[in-house]
Amino acid sequence: METVFPAFDAAYWQGRYDSGRDGWDAHGVTPPLRTYFDQLDVARQPRILIPGAGRAYEAEYLHRRGFQHVFVADIAPEALRALAARVPDFPAGQLLLADFFALPNDPSYDLIVEQTFFCALHPSLRPAYARQVAHLLRPGGTLMGLLFDTDFGPVQEPPFGGSKEEYRAYFAPYFDFRHFETATHSLKPRQGRELFICLKKQ
Ligand SMILES: C[S@@+](CC[C@H](N)C(=O)[O-])C[C@H]1O[C@@H](n2cnc3c(N)ncnc32)[C@H](O)[C@@H]1O
Repeated sequence: METVFPAFDAAYWQGRYDSGRDGWDAHGVTPPLRTYFDQLDVARQPRILIPGAGRAYEAEYLHRRGFQHVFVADIAPEALRALAARVPDFPAGQLLLADFFALPNDPSYDLIVEQTFFCALHPSLRPAYARQVAHLLRPGGTLMGLLFDTDFGPVQEPPFGGSKEEYRAYFAPYFDFRHFETATHSLKPRQGRELFICLKKQ
């Protein structure tokens, strides 16, 4: 069974939060995701999953807009604690302290949101990430979000970079590519260095 890479387990991630090595934290929903969320139809009440959600500003934003079926999954307790503290009325049953690779697909999701989770996984897990996202989505469901299109060099720990062409190969077996281009309106340090993706499960 696919699972977390041993070196980057729950203790590793909780330790990064505890020691303040959390430079990925944008302290709010990022502009490309906010623009996409603002176009979603709340009346449809899609089932939305945010894996590796961290402090989950996306979940907070969607919840405040009236989306009722937003699920966040993370292996670090701090991630879920922070969301619950900021948003006390967020449904406790939708805070999943769980390994993304072990999440069940019944019921499936309409939308999965990617924000600095893919880059947190050891690169050897990338094919499994694409497979698991496809497994969790219903046919026609959407994976959207941001992927670093950046070479971070030979690093020993996350974030791990990569390129558009490398990523395309992981997702092509399962998805139709609706959008796979350099993001506009990225946060300043990420400008020109990340892709906005919107992929439809075949
Ligand atoms: C780089 S952080 C990004 C957090 C958040 N998406 C953000 O942008 O602020 C990666 C997150 O993924 C979580 N994580 C790592 N491996 C995981 C796994 N296998 N399943 C679920 N969460 C995982 C970590 O605990 C951490 O909160």
